[in-house]
Formats: sequence, structure tokens, C-alpha cells
Amino acid sequence: MKIDGTPYRSVWLDPDGTSVRIIDQTRLPWALEFPRLTTLDQSIHAIRAMQVRGAPLIGAVAAFGVWLALRADPSDAALTRAAAALIAARPTAVNLAWAVRRVHDHVAPLPMYDRADAARAEAMTIADEDVAQCRAIGEHGLPLIEGCARENGRIVNILTHCNAGWLATVDWGTALAPIYCAHERGIAVHVWVDETRPRNQGASLTAWELARHGISHTVIADNAGGHLMQHGRVDLVITGTDRVTRTGDVANKIGTYLKALAAYDNDVPFWVALPSTTIDWQARDGIREIPIEERPAAEVTTITGRGMDGDVTTIRIVPKDSPAANPAFDVTPARLISGFITERGRCAASEDGLVGLFPDHA
Ligand code: MRU
Repeated sequence: MKIDGTPYRSVWLDPDGTSVRIIDQTRLPWALEFPRLTTLDQSIHAIRAMQVRGAPLIGAVAAFGVWLALRADPSDAALTRAAAALIAARPTAVNLAWAVRRVHDHVAPLPMYDRADAARAEAMTIADEDVAQCRAIGEHGLPLIEGCARENGRIVNILTHCNAGWLATVDWGTALAPIYCAHERGIAVHVWVDETRPRNQGASLTAWELARHGISHTVIADNAGGHLMQHGRVDLVITGTDRVTRTGDVANKIGTYLKALAAYDNDVPFWVALPSTTIDWQARDGIREIPIEERPAAEVTTITGRGMDGDVTTIRIVPKDSPAANPAFDVTPARLISGFITERGRCAASEDGLVGLFPDHA
């Protein structure tokens, strides 16, 4: 997608051939910086500190992380250690473990001297496949927006939570891909952007990427969505996801479940967009089986922004004696979801729906 007219991806191989470039998402929207990752430890740090975040993107960066580890040491022991450390960096998004295992399994049978190059090639394939899958998600989600436009005869209002745009994938995004496609086709869209406390991925990242691409949007407090739905101001909700069970339960950024409840109560369609790399075919019960990341309390007790003096500062907003809890994801049961938008098309949020599109997992 474009930043003020220039196309970017969220991760790419540096032309020096020995490192990976990312967009540091902890610095957005204040600064656009492209740090270089040259080691396994830097890759793990980037994922853990959320310099890169979003399920498909952390998978792609972790795949490159295996390459960086093997450049330093291509032994069996180093490969095993690197894979385990990358997978442990964040627990909820299943794309991370999927991508690491894919690169691991690809290079493990090779002679040591071939491993690093093979890992780099596989990581690049994973990144390219993610772009193609997200583009396809955009095409398959587009008819939902076209349908709303036809029905309403006015601008289509879409609510999204967190950031499931191109910054969360390698390009295009999941939830935002149909919106980018609609914009490309000249359909008038407006996006309600949940601010998404505590990390503010909506206010800081979704708003930034939509603005840079020229798409109409409004940031709202996380608590505003239900009210807007009650007053007919939301035509459609589209979110991304970090892990989907084979039965259609969805883990996504904390607060997604409450949006799904409000949408259900107000007959607003609630769609979830995902590449198949986000499906955990082993899990059946999202609430019991999906590990939910607990992040530092400081993300809740503080907030970061640009002060009136122009400096970016972090301030405490909770009394110093009050503890805080920070579960980073929640699970929306399949029954609240209108359907899934995948790279192979749309389907019901159910085992039959998913297996219908991906019969190799029957
Ligand atoms: O904690 P984050 O910012 O990594 O969480 C990201 C989300 O919850 C996204 O909605 C999800 O990864 C889908 S991204 C295409």
C-alpha cells in the first residue's frame, strides 16, 4: 500500500542482502523509521516489543529471523534453539509458529552450508504468499461492501477494531484489504476506527495507514461502537484475527468480542478476514484452547502521545497504587460471526464452512 503515493511493504530484504528492514510500529504515527534487523535477538525483540505486530507480519518476520539465526550458526542445535525462541516471543497468533515451523522443516534436511540461503528464500516466499493471500481476501470481501453500497445508495460505513491493515500483514491487510479494494474501484467508504486501548493500534496505526492512503475515516473511543450501531451508523464490521479454531471461534485483539455482541444485537453483519495461515486446525474450543497473551500492566497504566511542546511523551493515567491487568486478546464465539473472508472465498464461521474451502483439512 502507499505512504503518500509511494508503495511500501511492512517488511523487506535490505538490498545489502544481509539484513531485513521493518517499519518500527512503536514509533508510528510520530515518526516513520525503518530499522534494520541483522540478528535473531533483534528479530525476537522486534516481535516482543511490537515494533512489528499483527498475526501475518510476525509470522513473516519470524521466518526471516530463522534465516538471520542460521547466518550466524547453521547447526542443528542453533536451528532448534532459534525456532523455539521465536515461537515463544508471542503466544496467541498461530501464524508465528506456523511460519517458523515451515522454515525449520524446509531447511532441517539440508546440509549446513545450504541452510541460510534456503531459509532466506523460504521466508521471502512466505512474505510473497502473504501479499497474494491478502490481495485475494480483498477481492473476496469486496462484494460485501458493494452489496452495502447498492442497498444504501450512500457511503458505506465500516467499523474495524485494532489494526488489521497492511501494517499487520506484509501488504494489503486482512480486514482493510476489502476496503482498499473498494476504494480502488471508486466505491465511497468511511471507516470507524476503534482506538483499541491499551496499545492504540486503531488510533495510531489504522488511522495512520488509512490517512496516508487517502481513505475517509474517523477514530472513535472503544466504547462508542455499540451506540453507533444502535443508530444505524455502521453498515458492516470487519476485523482481523490472530487464531481461528477449526470450529470457527476467533481470537482477536481485546475488545473484539464486545463489538461482536453489539453487532449481533443490532443485526449488523460481523465479518472476520483471515489468511488460512491463521487457522489452528488442531483447536476446537477457542475459549479453552487458545492461549491469551498477558502483556505488561504499564500498557494500561500509561499512555503515549505528542505533547503540546511537540515531544512524544508517556504519562501515567492510573493512580500509582492501583494495579492493572492487560489480557491482549479475547475470543469471539463462532455463533456471533456472520462469516469468514479468506483467500479462497467467503464461508460460514463453522467447521463445515472452513473445511468446505480447505478440504485438505477435512
Ligand atoms: O497485538 P497485535 O497488535 O499484534 O494484535 C493484532 C491483532 O489483533 C490483529 O487484529 C490481528 O493480528 C489480525 S492482523 C491482520
